[in-house]
Amino acid sequence: MANLTSCILKIIILVLMNLLIFVLYNCNYNELHVTNRYVMKLKTTGKQLKPEDHNRIVEEYFSKRKEWKTSMLGSILFQNQTHFTPSSKSYLILIWKHWHWLKNRHVYYFGEKPHDPFKECNVNNCQFTGKDELLDTADAVVVHLQRGLLPNVTQRNPRQRWIFLNDEAPPHVYSVSESPSIPQLANVFNWSMTYRTDADVPVPYGRTVALTKPKYLDPSYTNIAKLVPNWKIKTRHNLITVLMSHCSVSHRMKYLNTLKKYIDVQVHGRCSENQEIVCPGHYTSNCEKIDQYLFYLVLENAMCRQYMTEKLFYNAYEKGAIPIIRGPPLQDCQALLPPNSFIHVDNFLTPSDLAVEIINISKDDKKLLSYHLWRNHFKVVNEHGYFGTKSVHLCRLCEAMNYNDEREKIYDEDDIRLFFDEDILCSTQRNSTKLDSQLVINK
Ligand SMILES: *[C@@H]1O[C@H](CO)[C@@H](O)[C@H](O)[C@H]1NC(C)=O
Ligand SMILES: *[C@@H]1O[C@H](CO)[C@@H](O)[C@H](O)[C@H]1NC(C)=O
Ligand SMILES: *[C@@H]1O[C@H](CO)[C@@H](O)[C@H](O)[C@H]1NC(C)=O
Ligand SMILES: *[C@@H]1O[C@H](CO)[C@@H](O)[C@H](O)[C@H]1NC(C)=O
Ligand SMILES: *[C@@H]1O[C@H](CO)[C@@H](O)[C@H](O)[C@H]1NC(C)=O
Repeated sequence: MANLTSCILKIIILVLMNLLIFVLYNCNYNELHVTNRYVMKLKTTGKQLKPEDHNRIVEEYFSKRKEWKTSMLGSILFQNQTHFTPSSKSYLILIWKHWHWLKNRHVYYFGEKPHDPFKECNVNNCQFTGKDELLDTADAVVVHLQRGLLPNVTQRNPRQRWIFLNDEAPPHVYSVSESPSIPQLANVFNWSMTYRTDADVPVPYGRTVALTKPKYLDPSYTNIAKLVPNWKIKTRHNLITVLMSHCSVSHRMKYLNTLKKYIDVQVHGRCSENQEIVCPGHYTSNCEKIDQYLFYLVLENAMCRQYMTEKLFYNAYEKGAIPIIRGPPLQDCQALLPPNSFIHVDNFLTPSDLAVEIINISKDDKKLLSYHLWRNHFKVVNEHGYFGTKSVHLCRLCEAMNYNDEREKIYDEDDIRLFFDEDILCSTQRNSTKLDSQLVINK
């Protein structure tokens, strides 16, 4: 009898233990790594692609850019221009005053080792120098506007091109120097070198590039999931993140704090609320911590035409997160970013509406993956030198010298304004027909 009782007890204990393991395992499973299992269960979209489907998608995307006004280099980078021939000359390019400082990003990529600027470049007939005494003989002089200081010369060689370089949004161009007024910059420069598509030397932080053929002819969700970087480690528990080191830009902090009332946004970097200093490297080193998130909140420090940075191209796209964009206007995002690849805050009346939509998308793997379907036809390239990625600034300078129109060009006050006037370019006050015809917006 005693034996039977102890036997029954043992059985009960065993059953209870199994139940406990089952419960523990399932709780855990539901909370984390839902995605792996879900993806396996997803059905295919059922439609096989033909090569012409890919061509149609890609051509439709590029057709919207036909009207853009660009330099020759700009049409190579943005409009699939394939007819160009390098020049037989060679060029000396002087980086005025700040060669040493610029090299850190564009030659060293913030690392220890220098990189050859002409590796994977279409040309190599340029020599870069920081020797200001070569001002008289250089073919081009690059002035980094953020650092100020124009060369002071009385006799200027009319064949020499002066190029202004600026990677910042108009409100932050002179963050580390005294700002000259716009009229002071009139009739000084021949070329522009900025992130904009209409610059003579375009150096965007990233670009959308078409693939020659689709990655999969069967665009099933299972296949699309394979194209999303870090998909296997993403979890619904890690919904939205933002990496932030400058906590003083009040308009974006305000937006972030309002959004946080409705949805969990996890801040990494120096602005993290619990002072958890993960990823303090800012843009110089990679932050693995953000790989697991489904969405990345792109809060640019200014909201200006075409100003989109490594936050979007690296922290979001490269990490396999869907960008939620607060920065450049919607029409610029549609023109420059892969189709159906982002969420834009301007599409929502309030942060609360935005939160509802994000939560809705996050609950459904098919919806999440629909924002990644573009990866079957396009890729996004990072070209800024941040986070150890490649910088192409110097290659672009040399390409521009080779390919661009050689005729005289002078930036008068109006032209300068279209690159630096905040009233025309930023926030809600974008109001210049001249600029619109240059950047061509879809009305
Ligand atoms: C780019 O141009 C090449 C050659 O002209 C053409 O074969 C290709 O289809 C074009 N690609 C796009 C995206 O328009
Ligand atoms: C520019 O150079 C001239 C003569 O070389 C000098 O008189 C003038 O003060 C200089 N201006 C500035 C702003 O340095
Ligand atoms: C998401 O939105 C769709 C329509 O917009 C709705 O049918 C669906 O019930 C929503 N799902 C969730 C989980 O809120
Ligand atoms: C460059 O600009 C200067 C000053 O406006 C002008 O005198 C010169 O002709 C221009 N050179 C070229 C090559 O455009
Ligand atoms: C654009 O700005 C000008 C003044 O700079 C103003 O007179 C005009 O009404 C504005 N147009 C629009 C459509 O806001």
